[in-house]
Amino acid sequence: MNTLQQCTPARLHHLQIVSERPETMVEFYQRMLDLRIVEMRADSTVLAGPARAMIIRRSGGGSEPHYGYAMTDASALEALKQQLSGHDLSYEMINDPLFASGAIVITDPQGRRLAFGVPVQSDDYTGPPARLQHTVFQTTDLDNVVRFYVEKVGFTISDEVIDADGTIMVVFMRSDGEHHTLAFFRGSSNEWDHHCYETSEWNDIRDWGDRFAAAEVPIFFGPGRHGPGNNLFFMVTDPDGNRLEFSAELERVPADKPPGVWPQSERTLNSWGRAWIRS
Ligand SMILES: [Fe+2]
Repeated sequence: MNTLQQCTPARLHHLQIVSERPETMVEFYQRMLDLRIVEMRADSTVLAGPARAMIIRRSGGGSEPHYGYAMTDASALEALKQQLSGHDLSYEMINDPLFASGAIVITDPQGRRLAFGVPVQSDDYTGPPARLQHTVFQTTDLDNVVRFYVEKVGFTISDEVIDADGTIMVVFMRSDGEHHTLAFFRGSSNEWDHHCYETSEWNDIRDWGDRFAAAEVPIFFGPGRHGPGNNLFFMVTDPDGNRLEFSAELERVPADKPPGVWPQSERTLNSWGRAWIRS
């Protein structure tokens, strides 16, 4: 298997989210994440900032979320297309304002859409460090979804969390040298779990915490340290209830490292204390 990490590394670059009140969401991400409006469209607003970007679309009219993964260059994107075709995985072309022409989108067995492309040249943005780094979902069909991302797309399993019966409950997957760029929790629904911004160090976590405190946005999970990935973290929510994570010290994983196995427990998800156990 030619993995993304080994052959065509991909990193999370931007999100396309859908909202019933996009103006409120745009204001929040401008104010809290230092994103700037780079394009206003009839049904969407394109925002970008230092190592993070987002398209916020008004719900309705066929709006769908997608998650944009950046390839290093056009030849890597072409190699990925050939790799996907070789695995009988069809893709569609996508017109994404944050990617150069030639970007593609794939759809997983439950309808989630991942786009792959080469980012358009961006301005020099300033703001505190928070690089968009991973996205996570809850799924009712964990085994099938993970098989799709590993066998068809080329993600590599970094760690699994199993319950007392040996059932796999969480799978962390990587597409480059970082512990996870995509993860799935077994759950009773198919909701978006969270997205994460990787900072430079613990003091950045402090500063982001202070920023949300000043805006009276309370932390709902953390601070703590995850077992899998070993990263420091806390989480807050945006006006739509989407969960944002701020992280530091995320583990880097060599391509040949076999998957780790962790027990399903509060200490696995937060070695510092209480954990948010999905159900
Ligand atoms: Fe996370």
